[in-house]
Amino acid sequence: MLCIAFGYATAQESRESPDLMPLPSSIQVQAGRLLINQSFSVAISGHNEPRLGRAVQRFLRDITRETGMLLSTQLGEPDKATLVIHADQASKAVQDADEDESYTLEVTSTGAKLNAPNPLGILHGLETFSQLVAIAPDGFAVPATRIDDKPRFIWRGLMIDVSRHFVPLNVIKRNIDGMAALKMNVFHWHLSENQGFRIESKAYTKLQELGSDGMFYTQADARELIEYARDRGIRVVPEFDMPGHSTAWFVGYPELASAPGPYQIERTWGIFDPAMDPTKESTYKFLDKFIGEMSHLFPDPYFHIGGDEVNGKQWDANPKIQEFMHAHRLSDNHALQAYFNTRIQKIVSKHGKIMIGWDEVLAPDLPKDIVIQSWRGQKSLADAARLGFRSILSFGYYLDYMWPASQHYANDPLSGDAASLTPEQQHLVLGGEACMWSEYVTGENIDSRIWPRTAAIAERLWSPQNVTDLDSMYRRIEDESWRLERLGLTHRTGLNAMLRRMAGTADVSALGVLADVVEPVKGYGREQAALDAGLTLKSDTPLNRLVDSVAPESELARRFSNAVDTMIASHFHDRSTEDQIRAQLSMWRDNDARLQPVLQRSYLLQQVEPLSQELSALGAAGLQALDFIDKGQTAPADWKSQQLASIEQAKKPQADLLLMVAPAIQKLVEASANNNQG
Ligand code: ACM
Repeated sequence: MLCIAFGYATAQESRESPDLMPLPSSIQVQAGRLLINQSFSVAISGHNEPRLGRAVQRFLRDITRETGMLLSTQLGEPDKATLVIHADQASKAVQDADEDESYTLEVTSTGAKLNAPNPLGILHGLETFSQLVAIAPDGFAVPATRIDDKPRFIWRGLMIDVSRHFVPLNVIKRNIDGMAALKMNVFHWHLSENQGFRIESKAYTKLQELGSDGMFYTQADARELIEYARDRGIRVVPEFDMPGHSTAWFVGYPELASAPGPYQIERTWGIFDPAMDPTKESTYKFLDKFIGEMSHLFPDPYFHIGGDEVNGKQWDANPKIQEFMHAHRLSDNHALQAYFNTRIQKIVSKHGKIMIGWDEVLAPDLPKDIVIQSWRGQKSLADAARLGFRSILSFGYYLDYMWPASQHYANDPLSGDAASLTPEQQHLVLGGEACMWSEYVTGENIDSRIWPRTAAIAERLWSPQNVTDLDSMYRRIEDESWRLERLGLTHRTGLNAMLRRMAGTADVSALGVLADVVEPVKGYGREQAALDAGLTLKSDTPLNRLVDSVAPESELARRFSNAVDTMIASHFHDRSTEDQIRAQLSMWRDNDARLQPVLQRSYLLQQVEPLSQELSALGAAGLQALDFIDKGQTAPADWKSQQLASIEQAKKPQADLLLMVAPAIQKLVEASANNNQG
């Protein structure tokens, strides 16, 4: 596939400091470099523990993979080794939210020292060192550098919903590897939903037996993942959503619900009526035993009880619940849920845990140690902080919205309403979590929905607040994205396998050209389109179409758009950029003819035919616009209005996809009609 590298040359020339992600809080690049050669070795001085030894082995495997040099996995002597690691002391037996994660890394031409108060900083510093290893004409080298680094926020999470679609354990593990590479430290495991209950309970076996379609993690799986995550400095916080989002529990245990049932696993998306009955003592007895069991399985101090989106319809319709509310002076469903939360908090606390819940659980009289996770906005963080509660932000970090990395990157936990908090109140904002809701996600495509965009969120939560340069972020995320692939994630290479299935042929080059410039519709556009078409999307609807495969953000469209801006800013004197733009436009113009035979014989691709035709038309329009400009002519008004009408059409979603190059081509058309340089 022809690759036109808009904008790369200038970016590389202006490079001053190494392409680290997330950027450290302080970095000083010095003269010289440390060559990485066959004699590279690592020693551990200071505190040692098996986890550090395993981290060093992984690190050496990474360096071996990056350099092709088979490095010795024997630990070296501290006075001779190339890299000497020193942790002052152990971290806690169960990683806590507020442990020191700082480290310093000093690299000179003769060796490197990595120091940290405890192993958590060492784990982060090893990731930094790996990112610093760069190819050079004479081998591989790390620039002489001094880095003093620590996170801005203590809570840097990724939530994965494994309930709407099950996500296999090996896929979770490779995403944990991605998190570690980006210095993230909380994996939030959304384990129960209307559409699935995903963990084995030994106390209540019908939860997984009847609530999961056979797709759940055993307790041994969970312990394995917790160990795997701990090895990488990552906490595992389980979520069991209650009292709503809980239909899958009721298939096996209808007596927990507020209406008799029977219940089936939900097969569609949205908010459903079933909710636990907060008025029955038997509900709390059940939850006490269940939470006790899960508190034992999950060592993390925090326990997430969900608490979001209870519509209250089952409560309204149940006379006994109405009677209870009247007797307890609970004036509305919000008050009833607050009563439920108060009871649950006592249970969670009795089992030694701190309760977390989504915005809706916020109530002034809950104990101040609970944590609010906001999916609604910074205002919830501010409201929580003013009442003395700690909080984490997920609003603005919803990966299923298919936003560009830049939009997540601009979303600071301490912006908006949270910006006016006092320093003490701001301290209560612990950080944030990217959220991967899984309506349209399976083990096959989940990596591409999480990465590389989550790297931008990871940087927002780790790096200083003033690290906001978009060009720098996009340059570094590109590097990091390929590194994540080498670590085992499939967010880029997975696309080809999916294209090949859709095309039914090995030649997916023309399909790839289209795939590279479309993005899935944003927000809830997919639901809206289904609604408009009178369709119901179901949990067993195959996720094998172009919309399920392409990246949420088109890197090529972004670069093309930047190139067009550069050329317009140069008043069309930038010939080399124009040549690149023309080559790209020609490729698009000619692509439909190449793609047609593939589209004609693929059931899965028929829907995208209009997009392919529109991409060709956009390519042709862009070339015509450049011809007018280059000849010093002004494009005729009727040509312009015709093109603009087609471009408007091309901007509309089709097959749940957006053609991302339409706005840049509109700029070319408009420039050609305003052209008066002749
Ligand atoms: C949520 O989006 N209801 C947490």
